[in-house]
Amino acid sequence: MAHSAERTPTPTLAPGGHGRTHTAADDDVSKRLLDSAATLSYDPATEIDWDAPLEPGHYGLNPEWSTLYGTALWSEMTEEQRVVLTRHEVGSIMTTGIWFEMILQQMVLRDQYLKDPASAEFRFALTEIADECRHSIMFARACEKMGVPQYKPNQFVAQAGRAYKALARGELAYGGILVAEEVLDVMQRDWMRGENVLDIVRGTSRIHVVEESRHMKFARQEIRERLRGAGTLRRRNAAFGIAAGAYVIVTSMVHPSVYKAAGLDVARALAEVRASEHRRAMMRTSSRHLMAFLAENGLLTGPSTKLYRRIHML
Ligand SMILES: [Fe+2]
Ligand SMILES: [Fe+2]
Repeated sequence: MAHSAERTPTPTLAPGGHGRTHTAADDDVSKRLLDSAATLSYDPATEIDWDAPLEPGHYGLNPEWSTLYGTALWSEMTEEQRVVLTRHEVGSIMTTGIWFEMILQQMVLRDQYLKDPASAEFRFALTEIADECRHSIMFARACEKMGVPQYKPNQFVAQAGRAYKALARGELAYGGILVAEEVLDVMQRDWMRGENVLDIVRGTSRIHVVEESRHMKFARQEIRERLRGAGTLRRRNAAFGIAAGAYVIVTSMVHPSVYKAAGLDVARALAEVRASEHRRAMMRTSSRHLMAFLAENGLLTGPSTKLYRRIHML
């Protein structure tokens, strides 16, 4: 702590960050995250038993987290179909995770371009990129093991993601990152403890929850810093941009083809998911913490609130 205080005794202007201030106290947040990463990080290549056979009859995720749980269609499904469906659902969420982690790595790398390598912020940002790189490989291996194909976002969303990762900066970039991390976090806390959930999902979820809790702290800190002293217009724009990102992330998580993989009628399944009160309640639960943070930081404006309501995050 002492040397960082000596190095940056007064607020400094960080280059290229809309003239943002990055103080010694801000850097201490990253310093603590770096210490935590040094104490507890995982190598999924050795942490997970990749050769163990999948436990027959075990779900991909806790049934309550299935998009169809509680619907009429769910009650008509065989146990075997439920097992297949939940494995494809978790695989689809993992593939979306990989897609988003690629966007995130590029945004963070671009954000840190030519920043002070002596700062803890720079070092933690690179640590985070390294974490995400391991996570994506881990999710890829888990999908392969479960026999889940690559579920890609549709063309429009794929191009929107390409634009977002090229253009989003500051609070918008870290806002999108936080949304994806928060929503996944709540689900994965249940998956890692889920009875009758595949070991491979429990293990990958445990690793992800531990490492992502640091990423979320970092993202919250970055958002607070970037918005320090921001005017109303900038805050409003950020609020809407983050909500739009949330809309894309949440609506892309589970690919419609997962229902086909379980031998279901896709149109009927989608209609039942859309009308499911249970699903809405689960979405609201997984968004509670995120919504509290957004409200605290003036990021729940009228238009953004409308978007969050539409996807049942509020
Ligand atoms: Fe990750
Ligand atoms: Fe992350």
